[in-house]
Amino acid sequence: MQFFILSLVFVCTNADDKIFSVISYGAKADGVTDDSEVFLKAWMDACKWNGEATFLIPLGTYMIYGVTFFGPCKGSLIVKIQGVIKASTNPNIFCKGSWISFEHINNLEIEGGGTLDGQGASAWGQPQCATRPYTIGLSSIQNAIVHGIHSINSKMFHFDIYNSNNVTLSHVHIIAPSDSPNTDGIHISLSSNIRVFDSNIGTGDDCISIFAGSQNVNISRVTCGPGHGISIGSLGNKPNEVVKDVHVKNCTLIATQNGMRIKTWASSNVGEATNIYFEDIIMDKVDNPIIIDQYYCPSHTCNIKKSLVQIKDVTFNNIRGTSNSLVAVNFNCSSSLSCQIINLNDIDLINYNTKPTIASCANAIGHATGIELPPSCLKSVLES
Ligand SMILES: *[C@@H]1O[C@H](CO)[C@@H](O)[C@H](O)[C@H]1NC(C)=O
Ligand SMILES: *[C@@H]1O[C@H](CO)[C@@H](O)[C@H](O)[C@H]1NC(C)=O
Ligand SMILES: *[C@@H]1O[C@H](CO)[C@@H](O)[C@H](O)[C@H]1NC(C)=O
Ligand SMILES: *[C@@H]1O[C@H](CO)[C@@H](O)[C@H](O)[C@H]1NC(C)=O
Repeated sequence: MQFFILSLVFVCTNADDKIFSVISYGAKADGVTDDSEVFLKAWMDACKWNGEATFLIPLGTYMIYGVTFFGPCKGSLIVKIQGVIKASTNPNIFCKGSWISFEHINNLEIEGGGTLDGQGASAWGQPQCATRPYTIGLSSIQNAIVHGIHSINSKMFHFDIYNSNNVTLSHVHIIAPSDSPNTDGIHISLSSNIRVFDSNIGTGDDCISIFAGSQNVNISRVTCGPGHGISIGSLGNKPNEVVKDVHVKNCTLIATQNGMRIKTWASSNVGEATNIYFEDIIMDKVDNPIIIDQYYCPSHTCNIKKSLVQIKDVTFNNIRGTSNSLVAVNFNCSSSLSCQIINLNDIDLINYNTKPTIASCANAIGHATGIELPPSCLKSVLES
């Protein structure tokens, strides 16, 4: 009798957890029929649940034209994606905005080992849309974990993290061809306390891009390639664009265009990139392993060539491997505002066909210690 009562209590406490499966809401899962409305219905019930709700997308292939999962929700949400979710290839459908977005949610977990297939080839290099949709948008999210998710062939960015705080991504696998435009792996803006670790990212654009308004971003044990590398910027397209406190550690870059990059527009907008650490990085045939470029101007329409974005307190520690070009270290800093306090320690970058590399500096102040391959060209404060 006592045992019976105890087990009843056990069942009652567990009643706070509930699974909302899109299949029980009538998802077709035939890979053709648009299941967006059904997903939304299941989401709305899950979001109203006063406890831990699991929004389940079981094994199967789902066609989703576009959905935004809005909060705030009553309890915490686990989005378990086990199946494959496919985007439309029809521009009349996909040009309408975002593909899969999560907005205004506290305590969100996205997991399950499933795949998001953006079917990007239908959109790359075609001017049908003003902006192509990113695969997953996380907007105004507080406390989120994303892990064990595959994203392939996004039309734009794979993950877009915007106006969010305390978001961790791990074990995400991102793949798009090296010539696919703007398929950044993870784009972070206006967000704080963001972590990315134990992930593999190969794309046609930046592996991870850390954009204006980002602070306290830690990236570790990420392998990138192909793509444009790990990038801060471009800052200075608008006034007061700031990135602060970035730690990139224990990452490997394979045949990327850049390794660790900071770039700012050649414009007169003030801004800042400060307190940035790149440590324990392996470069494998990277075109520009270490690069600061303050002359970014893709359309060549910048009339003011002097960036007013201050780059300061940047450390490159233990960066090893091969460069795919002669200039392995390139600090092309603004002629109006020098880069300040650049620290190099144990830089060991040989040219990939064994020729020695060189460093190039313009307006770069700092100092080097330990291994200097290539020899540092930084100026000390006194010399400058
Ligand atoms: C950050 O988010 C994680 C996962 O949701 C949570 O466990 C942790 O308590 C949060 N940290 C803070 C400082 O709120
Ligand atoms: C990032 O790493 C630094 C240094 O290890 C640590 O002080 C900081 O709290 C970390 N931030 C996050 C968001 O994990
Ligand atoms: C760096 O990553 C490698 C494999 O990715 C791992 O074996 C090693 O322990 C990591 N080191 C640190 C300091 O995290
Ligand atoms: C620095 O940037 C200027 C302007 O884009 C460019 O002409 C120059 O070649 C760059 N220097 C290096 C070493 O890349």
